Amino acid sequence: MIDAFDKSGRFLTACLRLLPAELAHDVALLAMEHGALRCFPKQQQPTLEVPLQVHVPGIGRLRHPIGLAAGFDKNIRCPTAFEHMGLSFLEMGTVTPRPQPGNPKPRIFRQPETLSIINRMGFNSHGAALVLHRLRELNWKPTSVPLGVNLGKNKTTLQEDAVNDFAAGIIAFESHAQWLTVNISSPNTSGLRDLATPEFLRSLEQAIGSLRSKCWIKLDPDMDRGSFQKMISAIKTEGFQGAVLSNTHRVESPQAGGQSGHPLLSPSNSCLEWAWDVTKGTLPVIASGGVLSGVDAYHKLARGACAIQIYTALVYRGPGATARICEELSSELKLRGFASAEEAIGSWYL
Ligand SMILES: Cc1cc2nc3c(=O)[nH]c(=O)nc-3n(C[C@H](O)[C@H](O)[C@H](O)COP(=O)(O)O)c2cc1C
Repeated sequence: MIDAFDKSGRFLTACLRLLPAELAHDVALLAMEHGALRCFPKQQQPTLEVPLQVHVPGIGRLRHPIGLAAGFDKNIRCPTAFEHMGLSFLEMGTVTPRPQPGNPKPRIFRQPETLSIINRMGFNSHGAALVLHRLRELNWKPTSVPLGVNLGKNKTTLQEDAVNDFAAGIIAFESHAQWLTVNISSPNTSGLRDLATPEFLRSLEQAIGSLRSKCWIKLDPDMDRGSFQKMISAIKTEGFQGAVLSNTHRVESPQAGGQSGHPLLSPSNSCLEWAWDVTKGTLPVIASGGVLSGVDAYHKLARGACAIQIYTALVYRGPGATARICEELSSELKLRGFASAEEAIGSWYL
């Protein structure tokens, strides 16, 4: 069953790669929205030698650690299709308070020779009202596959008002999403990364009060170690749920934008190590960045991540990527003598 899904998925992905990147993405999302994946049997988890269940604070028990990263389904159009692909938790968004078109096209560039993507989307979003309406209609049952919403600020919002954009998003979505991610790390919105300061977290905490415990903060991998570690301390002391490490790495060539995929693996692994250095595993961390295989996923768990998000792997390995990564992760854990995925979390530092 997995083979049928995987083989046809890889064939379709190869066909999509003949199109320009954003058009391929739009075609894929449209097809998924209209139930195209239902032609294939639901992606089943094979029986694995080493069990992969993990517990993520505030999100719940997941049948394996591989979830969807933000940006793939920015406007919550087809979470059911991602569930069908076997992802264990879904982060949707980034959603901005008001609709905005994002940057001019072209703005997504595949780099197959390095298994990476450069994007400068700039938060194209249908806006909070429409996305919230869609989420309400969907009436998503979080018990099977938890769904979170990633929030951003509008391009035209003044820097001093940015906190209000995030607070509005958190208040609007909190009762419809299992968790919320505060995105202060995308490289394509001018001034966004400047918000990654302990002072900003304090003002956000003052604006949202107890809702902070539902929020994860997504950081970028381009901060220097000192500033990054101050942010990790502030996330913990201000009482946010955890950190998503990391967003894309800013590059200027061959295109300006944020780079994801294989070249991001090492910088975002460093983020996990820097975070552990500060919190010794007491702050929950979701890893994102460069996971294309089960071995990559193992390295995230070993460095202290309690779950992992993928995006670029779906582009290069197709819709069967999740099952393949889980199989490879299970084999890697067995090879290294672990009895479960949870046992491997933080083992790098022992
Ligand atoms: C085309 C594209 C769009 C993205 N959009 C967002 C976004 O809207 N919000 C966000 O937090 N991250 C966004 N990301 C970053 C991903 O969520 C993820 O953190 C990053 O791609 C690293 O994971 P990967 O190496 O598995 O792709 C985007 C990534 C890509 C490739």
